[in-house]
Amino acid sequence: MIPMRKMLCTLFIPLAVWYSASAEDKLHEHEVNATSEADRAQAIFQRLYRRRRVEQLAAVKSLMELPEYEKQYKMVIMIAEKVYNVIESSRVTLESSGYIPGAQFPKDENVRDALSNILENTALLGDVLLHLPDITHAILAYNYEWTVMFRWSIGFCNETLLMDSKTVKMINLVAQEMNITDRDPSYVNPYRKDVKLEKRASDVEVKTSKKKKKKDKRKGPALSSPRVDL
Ligand SMILES: *[C@@H]1O[C@H](CO)[C@@H](O)[C@H](O)[C@H]1NC(C)=O
Ligand SMILES: *[C@@H]1O[C@H](CO)[C@@H](O)[C@H](O)[C@H]1NC(C)=O
Ligand SMILES: *[C@@H]1O[C@H](CO)[C@@H](O)[C@H](O)[C@H]1NC(C)=O
Repeated sequence: MIPMRKMLCTLFIPLAVWYSASAEDKLHEHEVNATSEADRAQAIFQRLYRRRRVEQLAAVKSLMELPEYEKQYKMVIMIAEKVYNVIESSRVTLESSGYIPGAQFPKDENVRDALSNILENTALLGDVLLHLPDITHAILAYNYEWTVMFRWSIGFCNETLLMDSKTVKMINLVAQEMNITDRDPSYVNPYRKDVKLEKRASDVEVKTSKKKKKKDKRKGPALSSPRVDL
């Protein structure tokens, strides 16, 4: 098994380090056409961010597979504390820079790093919360400052409009899970273990009833249009 601690440590190497270090991360063709340097930097950032998200999810899956509850608990504390520290210091940098979320991608390297740190760390803790909800809720309930910071960063990240659509969805689930935004009446944390079984059972029901109705449906009025992300 991959040593968990090692795996997690690589997750906390800021994306910005790769940004300048990796030759592979030169501009893609379609990004060269971006109008300004800031737009190009944003395009590269978003590509690296999506890649980072895949790694984060893999790490969280390994965390879930740890056989001992105590180890999981300790790891989640470690992650939450690290996330808190990174976000706290990055927030200071961002706020003193005058960056407005949703406005142009910052020009200053330090501000870019701070923004990137917040987007990465918020998403990581979001994944951990959804996948290990009982442990994470318990830890957050015990550490009021961490909760306050996390609530702030969730709203902030959402406003930057820099996250990919999957992460936006995840962050909106986190906001409901933490009661930051009102829960959708049909809200369930799709990763909560005990919910999963129930959901699978109801999926089967839906599928079978859909099959029966398929023919009638085509003639019926169109369903409301699907929700659009971003
Ligand atoms: C980039 O812009 C040039 C000139 O406007 C155009 O010819 C080219 O097709 C564009 N490339 C891409 C990948 O959009
Ligand atoms: C994210 O922003 C959208 C649009 O402004 C808003 O509807 C949604 O509630 C926000 N979600 C969170 C988690 O803040
Ligand atoms: C959020 O609200 C629900 C429903 O009122 C409640 O069951 C849950 O414990 C709350 N969770 C948090 C983290 O406040």
